[in-house]
Amino acid sequence: MELYLDTADVSSIRKWNDILRIDGVTTNPSILAKEKEDYLKVIAEISEILSDNQILFMQVVATSYEDILKEARQIAKLRKKNMYVKIPVTPDGLKAIKVLHEEGIGILATAIYSAPQAFLAAKNGADYLAPYVNRMENYGDGIEEVLTLQAMLGNANMDTKIIAASFKNVNQVKQLIAGGIAAVTVPVDVLSNMVLHPGTAIAVEEFSESWKKRFDEDKIRFE
Ligand code: E4P
Repeated sequence: MELYLDTADVSSIRKWNDILRIDGVTTNPSILAKEKEDYLKVIAEISEILSDNQILFMQVVATSYEDILKEARQIAKLRKKNMYVKIPVTPDGLKAIKVLHEEGIGILATAIYSAPQAFLAAKNGADYLAPYVNRMENYGDGIEEVLTLQAMLGNANMDTKIIAASFKNVNQVKQLIAGGIAAVTVPVDVLSNMVLHPGTAIAVEEFSESWKKRFDEDKIRFE
């Protein structure tokens, strides 16, 4: 299973990339717009933190077919390897996905709200599909819709990966990982809640106290 960070915050990416085995970083226009630095500088900085084997995703901002093609081709050149282009699944976006796939550009179909919509993006050649799990909850059961999509892809023998996105809590991520999802992209606050548990902190404090009380030391002595 692949794990991505859904942020453009360089210090968070550096921190969590050190702690965890992450497979890359996803951004979108709103995520990049939150940063103080210019977006090309931010993308370059993220690219420096990641290894060549980790994937970086940047989304097109253009909405017309011709302009999506232009932006996508430029985005794809921002790194030598593993620079994927995110394209919303509008009619213009789907048309562009078909062409860009033929050109060998890595594509993530994004802003997905339903399984049938995602399925068509896969049919057009998208490598990844990003259903917006939390936002989908406004229209029905987001988790169930993503698991239905997973079944549709499996039954159709399509190897397009689902990268579940738009998470607002750990339980949503848990349900999809348990459901066998190929990839998740998780915002920093949710990831941090996945890692940190007050019980773990209390347990570690208890261990340290017991050791200190008995041996008057806070580390293991080997001689
Ligand atoms: C993926 O990168 C998506 O753009 C992102 O997860 C959307 O998240 P949001 O619903 O919190 O905006």
